[in-house]
Amino acid sequence: MWLQDMNRERETYQKRFKRHYDELKWLYMELYDSMENFERLCGAMEEMYDQRKKDLKRQDLKREADPDWFKGHDMLGMMMYTGQFAGTLKGVEEHLDYIRSCGVNYLHLMPLMESPKGRSDGGYAVADFRKIQPELGTVEDLEHLADQCRLQGISLCLDFVMNHTSEDHEWARRARAGEKEYQDRYFFYDSWEIPMQFERTVPQVFPTTAPGNFTWLPELGKHVMTTFYPYQWDLNYRNPTVFHEMIMNFLFLANLGIDVIRIDAVPYIWKELGTTCRNLPQVHTIVRMMRMIGEIVCPGILLLGEVVMEPVKVAPYFGTVEKPECHMLYNVTTMATIWHTVATQDTRLLRKQLDTVYSLPRTYTFLNYLRCHDDIGWGLDYDTLAQWGMQQIPHKEFLNNFFTGSWQDSFSRGELYNNDPITRDARFCGTTASMCGVEKAGYCGDDGGMVQAIRLDLMLHAFMLFQAGIPVIYSGDEVGQVNDYTYKEDPDKMLDSRYIHRGAFQWHLADNIDKEGTVQNQLFNGLRQLETIRQAHEAFGAGAQAATCDSCDSALLYISRTSENEKLLGIFNFSQAVKILDWTIGGINLVTGGDVAEEKRLVLRPYDFVWLKLEKTE
Ligand code: GLC
Repeated sequence: MWLQDMNRERETYQKRFKRHYDELKWLYMELYDSMENFERLCGAMEEMYDQRKKDLKRQDLKREADPDWFKGHDMLGMMMYTGQFAGTLKGVEEHLDYIRSCGVNYLHLMPLMESPKGRSDGGYAVADFRKIQPELGTVEDLEHLADQCRLQGISLCLDFVMNHTSEDHEWARRARAGEKEYQDRYFFYDSWEIPMQFERTVPQVFPTTAPGNFTWLPELGKHVMTTFYPYQWDLNYRNPTVFHEMIMNFLFLANLGIDVIRIDAVPYIWKELGTTCRNLPQVHTIVRMMRMIGEIVCPGILLLGEVVMEPVKVAPYFGTVEKPECHMLYNVTTMATIWHTVATQDTRLLRKQLDTVYSLPRTYTFLNYLRCHDDIGWGLDYDTLAQWGMQQIPHKEFLNNFFTGSWQDSFSRGELYNNDPITRDARFCGTTASMCGVEKAGYCGDDGGMVQAIRLDLMLHAFMLFQAGIPVIYSGDEVGQVNDYTYKEDPDKMLDSRYIHRGAFQWHLADNIDKEGTVQNQLFNGLRQLETIRQAHEAFGAGAQAATCDSCDSALLYISRTSENEKLLGIFNFSQAVKILDWTIGGINLVTGGDVAEEKRLVLRPYDFVWLKLEKTE
């Protein structure tokens, strides 16, 4: 029996391996040109397969047989910081019932791996890819949590920070101690000559907090490439050892039972003089290799690419039908455009953006979100905005003024991030609830303002849930958690305003969920109702055809979703004005259950929305 099992597993592995062998070898040789190294990689992959648990192998087979398992309209994600939500990994496990009560079946835990205090970039500066931050728990705790999630039908997502390591990582320490072998795993330069050439073409990620793409190490008399913070050293993927070791770290996560691996800052992983060092063809070669390696060793896992770029640069990370790369990508431009629409009360750009997304193959899966742990970068389609009289710099300033609350009558609260007084460029930080007005209305005791804030918050979620793909709620948003200003008292955080929306989860707010009339009760139940409706209607699925519809009122956005048996229409009022529409088309209001044709008109209060199920005519 045991031998039979072993043979079956071997056959399965060999079949997968053979399927990808030629292409994998081809791509590997293109980058590294060493058959010996390639064979070493293949041997190590097989070892990782051997170490994979039976449960996971069983799940791999199931998911291989149903490769669209993550594309259903029953998927609902949540992202959170382990420490902020429940202190430790064990704490998260103890609160899985709360997570499930939110309807969540996809859980993204923010970076967990060992990372030096005060120089952690929120965990994105990893000092050890195999160790958990001690205050959060151990690798065993993570594996246990992953097991529990699997039993309870929750897919677990974790970051794989592959562009750089912390300067405290063993490789970096040995490089700093002068070991050439380890310096070769990064980008070290004896003089400013080459760094200077890079600086001519490479834009800066953090222009104010970390100017430049290099850091001078006086003890070594060398410059090291640091695209993000000076303590995050860029890895050199030209070096086959880096690729090999990082692939093993990736498979290590997969073998712990992580279902979704978020490849952090992936567009940056290949550097080439004379280029922007973003989205280079070699990046796609590496991601394609990771996809194949995953499909060989652990086909149950998914790759989620963190590609925070303009739309034309994002979609290529899906690869092609024959040669897929990432399974899922963030719908980042839509997110930024939503907030632009809130500030301008003008849906034209959002409509244009949706038309772009809806014209992509329906097989592409996007993660939709309103807020995440990062700032909003205002990556909008400025060419189009310019045609409507909105120029990039003043428009960004307007958005930042609006959302920080300094614009007249603004209801939003939040702070700037990486404010560059010279270019007048800045990004923005704040929670969904604060941006929608919950913070201001609560602070001022303004009941009318609160009604409007809750309505806006729900409307934006309704908009997000109206899209196919995976909607992801940022933990705390389900109970309207507002900005947390305590980071200003923490010397490790005070310089990074992103911590304003990374506050500790306020459990006392969750206690209000069942208290009639509270903000939490209205938001939580409102969201649950929408999520349940979404699950029940096939037209929310990836197979439906989505389209925007003409509107003579630019404050209103109409989206239709048509599947084989259903036609849905969503109307979203992005303005503070009441909209009354004459209505003759038969249909059901999915939220109230009312028959819309009977009324002969539709009334949308400020920031209101309707989800209609129309009678299908064709
Ligand atoms: C990603 C993360 C961000 C981090 C950066 C560098 O963009 O989302 O939080 O600062 O990578 O690792």
